[in-house]
Amino acid sequence: MSKSITVSYEGKPCYDILLEQNFLKLTPKLKELNISPKRKVCIVTDSNLAVLHADALAECIKPYFDSCITFCFPAGEQSKNLDTVQNLYQELINHHFDRKDLLIAFGGGVVGDLTGFTAATYLRGIDFIQIPTSLLSQVDSSIGGKTGVDFLHYKNMVGAFYQPKLVYMNLSLLKTLPKDQFISGMGEVLKHGFIKSADYFSWLKQNQMQIMNLSFDIIEEMIYQSCQIKRDVVERDPKETGERALLNFGHTIGHAVEKLSDFKLSHGQCVSIGIAAASRLSCDVGTLRKEDCAEIIRTLQAFGLLVSVSRFTPQEILSVSKSDKKMSAGKIKFILLESIGNAYIDADLSDAQLLSGITSILKDSDGRREEDTQNGTEL
Ligand code: GLY
Repeated sequence: MSKSITVSYEGKPCYDILLEQNFLKLTPKLKELNISPKRKVCIVTDSNLAVLHADALAECIKPYFDSCITFCFPAGEQSKNLDTVQNLYQELINHHFDRKDLLIAFGGGVVGDLTGFTAATYLRGIDFIQIPTSLLSQVDSSIGGKTGVDFLHYKNMVGAFYQPKLVYMNLSLLKTLPKDQFISGMGEVLKHGFIKSADYFSWLKQNQMQIMNLSFDIIEEMIYQSCQIKRDVVERDPKETGERALLNFGHTIGHAVEKLSDFKLSHGQCVSIGIAAASRLSCDVGTLRKEDCAEIIRTLQAFGLLVSVSRFTPQEILSVSKSDKKMSAGKIKFILLESIGNAYIDADLSDAQLLSGITSILKDSDGRREEDTQNGTEL
């Protein structure tokens, strides 16, 4: 069964998120959106997706559009930079793309963020649609209009808020997603429960086996619920002036670990490590109950996520965390938990408190070894 969610922006319906099992509804939806077939379209994708699925997508939309090209760049965070954007601009210029044309982001978070940023800036803005293919991009990065690229060693430092015309998911593609990437996406899924809904967190725990076995109905329901949580937050605070920052739970320390690992550890695994640290910090400051913190860490581990890391010093992690952009007047804006399902922003943590939270993830010997997550296998 198809599912659909409408996202409003500044009080008006802005775009739909469609959860489908194939691409059959894509061209009817383009028609419904009055996207003219006379437009040129560029599918932006990466080397992983191009091999597997980009041809199938191109075959599906070619009969609809007069002209369709594909721009493919090497998969991975190392491509998420202004050089790749520049190459894409050049490709669009070579093919005479103008403001009436369309970009399609077909891939995971890197593809979505980079394509969205290119769409926001090429000729001061052309339309784009998101076709997210990884669990992480389906539940998080494709929704809410955050676009951008890394700059030097700063993650997502250059970007724009720019809304897509449509988010279209073909959930059957998840069957070919490497298992480690699926688990990485679970970091963001669980985060939604931790920050916004104890009920959703309980549901995820109850359905853990079916989720990990990719039982389709359960996965569809999970993505639907996560998208609704994300939608509600970005509708209330589209430009992250307040509540949206809660979605960064686990990300400050997570981004630091991700960067220190030279992006060898996946985003979701690093977010999970960051969530473990933030949960322990929440106990240290006296908000989160110790039993709830233990439950969070147990559940992360049960879904195959890391809760500790061994190769870095606390000072290294603190110093890289401080170079992250989530700062307010030189202080880290840290997301903590009052309880499972209730997060809040704390901009007053001292370095000593932060170091104690960071040390807790380095001391933990219960976490799965990092090497266990390096070899993704097909689910
Ligand atoms: N990924 C966090 C956000 O969209 O705000």
